[in-house]
Amino acid sequence: MSSADDLKRKAAEAAMDYVRGIPILGVGTGSTVNHFIDFLADIKADIEGAVSSSECSTERLKKLGIPVLDLNAVGDIEIYVDGADEINPRLQLIKGGGGALTREKIIAAASRKFVCIADEGKYVDVLGRFPLPVEVIPMARSYVARQMVKLGGQPEWREGFITDNGNEILDVHNLEIMQPIEMEQTINNIPGVVTVGIFALRPADVVLLGTSEGVKTITL
Ligand code: 5RP
Repeated sequence: MSSADDLKRKAAEAAMDYVRGIPILGVGTGSTVNHFIDFLADIKADIEGAVSSSECSTERLKKLGIPVLDLNAVGDIEIYVDGADEINPRLQLIKGGGGALTREKIIAAASRKFVCIADEGKYVDVLGRFPLPVEVIPMARSYVARQMVKLGGQPEWREGFITDNGNEILDVHNLEIMQPIEMEQTINNIPGVVTVGIFALRPADVVLLGTSEGVKTITL
């Protein structure tokens, strides 16, 4: 039986078919994306640069010699490759397990195609079993936490963790997200929330799911 990490690696390898010949890529964050970055080494000579969603991915890209570009300097991006914590059949996602959700959401919004790579354990019917990450301005943490309780969730402060943007994260347990678009809008509208880790307004366009039977390509 393949381990979750083998399946992540297979999904990451499958994403190479989408990025060959594309000069500027959006690159996400996480262990699945780390495999993807390793595969990029094979084609790095053809890559003009990458827009990175975290300091961690930036460091890995730079180590390979791939230039990291400022989103402000490149305009819209052709392809964004990133992982997810949960994926539903509408290709809506929960992201932010690694805390990079804000930059990830910005790059996803600025990209023409979002290719999501993940192992099969991430595929669910309903989002919410994975605690929903919410990036908050530090002074608003308790206020936002109280609003999460009103929405039926159980917020937990990711203590000691500071995002690349200098903010904090609440991980909200016990939400059954039946209407992801509405929930994304509701949480985004709470003062003090920087970004909620629901990616439903801008879902993935393609999911490459590593399974024990091979990589499944899921589109709408
Ligand atoms: C980081 C993310 C990651 O894409 C998500 O947590 C999945 O991570 P992994 O590939 O390690 O399972 O959203 O903020």
